[in-house]
Amino acid sequence: MGRWLVETVGPRTAQLGAELVPLSLSELSLPFLDEEDHPSAGVYTQEHTKRWSALVDAADGFVVVTPEYNHGMPATLKNALDYLGREWAWKPIGFVSYGNTSSGTRSVQHAKQVVTALRLVPLGSTVALRIGEAVDGGRVLPPAAAAESAVRVLDELVRAANALRPMREIGHPDHRAGPLPGSYLRRLAPQDSAEVLALQRCCWVDEALANDTLAVPALHESLEQVREWLGTWTTSGLWQDGRLLGMVRTLRADDDLHVGRLGVVPDLRGRGIGRWLLRAAEATAEPGCVRTVLHTGARSRRNLSFYHGEGYRSTSAGGADGVVRLTKDVTRQELSNARN
Ligand SMILES: Cc1cc2nc3c(=O)[nH]c(=O)nc-3n(C[C@H](O)[C@H](O)[C@H](O)COP(=O)(O)O)c2cc1C
Repeated sequence: MGRWLVETVGPRTAQLGAELVPLSLSELSLPFLDEEDHPSAGVYTQEHTKRWSALVDAADGFVVVTPEYNHGMPATLKNALDYLGREWAWKPIGFVSYGNTSSGTRSVQHAKQVVTALRLVPLGSTVALRIGEAVDGGRVLPPAAAAESAVRVLDELVRAANALRPMREIGHPDHRAGPLPGSYLRRLAPQDSAEVLALQRCCWVDEALANDTLAVPALHESLEQVREWLGTWTTSGLWQDGRLLGMVRTLRADDDLHVGRLGVVPDLRGRGIGRWLLRAAEATAEPGCVRTVLHTGARSRRNLSFYHGEGYRSTSAGGADGVVRLTKDVTRQELSNARN
């Protein structure tokens, strides 16, 4: 059945830009749960648990192919679910069931009740196969309608996985809680270039107006250029419910920490988000780093008064390019923040 599913939804998976990783619980050979601690603690001592944890952690969603045993899910599936905690959270799960009169639907109902305890999100679309109709002489040949249902499950799975991404990211141990409820800071990567491009195009319009020039790099960069610098600068983005609210980037050069592209969406300005992002960037200064350096337009009065208020001094009055360079000594406090 698993092979039938992979073959049936394979082309659609490629169209959706998703990756399907087939996995068989029988090959995983998980013994009955043999960890001391509750899985929610995430303290794993056994190699098989660590392996299973890494596999589940790497996935954004699941399709379970399951039979029905005594009107419920098989013990192997329940055991595999019970092994882990955080790794399942906020990931969609779809089901392809098979069985006799019930087509395995009772197994799915049973599993749905259990998976919600793990904060897995069960899908509405399912595929339910009657063994008598789907298997012919040992060969799995489900009716055409089943193939259409399987593609529907996959479509729903990918959409739900995308929609739930902010829920997964907010709880990730590498991500820091932001200044607004439900917001979080995470490192931006080249695949975030489209959101970054949109944010900087809208943020730097004010800079262009204040300085009466369109010669502002953030307004001109192509998607490719943004993708490129996202690979070299350390850039942090503040997210809330899938929306990029603000960003800042840093780059270490000798004793200096260069800070740039500090921007906040127009509707959330004046709430201290820019200040919070700037301080978060400054806190990344490592030992040996003595100054933070940033630039703004010579006529960007609001930016200049904000940076001066944050302890920056203008070290150039604005050259022919109309850009002012500002610096600030890295304090012990920032270094200790960076270490903590
Ligand atoms: C212990 C056990 C209990 C079963 N209970 C059910 C059941 O409640 N409903 C059903 O439709 N089929 C039931 N079956 C039949 C299975 O659906 C069928 O044997 C199926 O091919 C098992 O899939 P598997 O070989 O991948 O485990 C049961 C089979 C076993 C071994």
